[in-house]
Amino acid sequence: MNQAVIGAQWGDEGKGKIVDFLAGKKTVGAVVRCQGGNNAGHTVVVGGEKHAFHLLPSGILYKDKLCVIGSGVVIDPEVLLGEIEKLEERVGNKHARIVISSKANLIMPWHKIRDGISGGAIGTTGRGIGPVYEDMVGRRGIRLMDTDNKVRFKERVETELKWNKKLIKLMGGNLRQSGQAITENYGKILTKIKANKRVEIGEVSVILDQLSKQGRGLVFEGAQATLLDINHGTYPFVTSSSCSLGGIYTGTGFRPRDLKVYGVVKAYATRVGAGPFPTELNDKTGSRLREVGHEFGTTTGRPRRCGWLDLTVVRYSGLINGLDSLMVTKLDVLTGLKQVKMATAYIIGKEKVKLFNPDLEKLKKAKVVYETIAGWQEDIGKIRRFLDLPRGAQHYIKRMEALSGMPVSLIGVGPERDQIIKR
Ligand code: IMP
Repeated sequence: MNQAVIGAQWGDEGKGKIVDFLAGKKTVGAVVRCQGGNNAGHTVVVGGEKHAFHLLPSGILYKDKLCVIGSGVVIDPEVLLGEIEKLEERVGNKHARIVISSKANLIMPWHKIRDGISGGAIGTTGRGIGPVYEDMVGRRGIRLMDTDNKVRFKERVETELKWNKKLIKLMGGNLRQSGQAITENYGKILTKIKANKRVEIGEVSVILDQLSKQGRGLVFEGAQATLLDINHGTYPFVTSSSCSLGGIYTGTGFRPRDLKVYGVVKAYATRVGAGPFPTELNDKTGSRLREVGHEFGTTTGRPRRCGWLDLTVVRYSGLINGLDSLMVTKLDVLTGLKQVKMATAYIIGKEKVKLFNPDLEKLKKAKVVYETIAGWQEDIGKIRRFLDLPRGAQHYIKRMEALSGMPVSLIGVGPERDQIIKR
């Protein structure tokens, strides 16, 4: 069986922990990233030690698995090398083998500068993500395969640099580096990556097909989330890739058969950067969720905006991704609250709307309808069976299921790998 782990809200749902958990099964052969870049931040906690990954798939700590970076992922080589080196300082070469698509686009210095100038209104991570995807779609991208031949790579850099210098000047910035310096720097970094015996660059479709034919399961690790999807999210307050299910197909060139699709839902909601967030809490409860849930960006350190769980959003993600079940994370963060709330619908004009609609004008007028549930005070971090959860927590999950129309298959009750309840 293959499994896809997709963010059902605005990202940071705790997908890394879920992917790490699923990847531990013997039948799983590979963990696959299909889109996004180092705008993502996935945290895995093992034995009290925190591992934060941006580009490397969350299954990287399993040495007998493959970690695949598909063609839909955009790569900043310096970040990738840094992440591999940091990981190897801790675990040596006892990590998953890394396979990278030769078709992946590279984040170049001009992408980061352009993002720095134009990304402010959206509140981007500033990693060059929007501009690199712009260039990919505009057929101006530089791909990993373009770096194999030094002369060709230099030519590509010089061509793109020429107009990027002009563009950046028009945007009010400055790109000083020469083509020679960029080519040399990238060349050095890429040579180190390619020389690593645990790294292979190739045709990801073939590798995934082979694994599948051998009966090994694949875990597809979504980055960002459905409401940040370039097509289906709260456009233009989105990232520039397909974070919903479709991204798996375009970002790997492989059709996984027998696929279960899981939507990861944090027990409350968070959002980083600008854009609509109808259930946002700008009060003490919001601050409490931020503090207890450590809601500060893994990538940028920015405080995340916090609010109540929004079931209109979860239903919408269910629809867009054809979710088979929900995996709820961070239920423990709600412990200690007298009451917890979940949004069940919006009133827009005279209409009661149950399905999220990413139309910004409609969202501005939306009044949120909440259901209030009595909270629970008991520590739930050590609980491993659903029926052992306090009544309030059980009720919260059951209401999520009833109101979203989807079953909850897994519940996270703490940051550690094993703090999970199977339902
Ligand atoms: P970009 O992906 O850097 O272009 O940023 C676009 C929007 O997506 C911004 O609001 C970011 O905060 C948000 N974003 C990008 N990556 C993540 C993520 O991994 N988690 C949460 N939000 C993200």
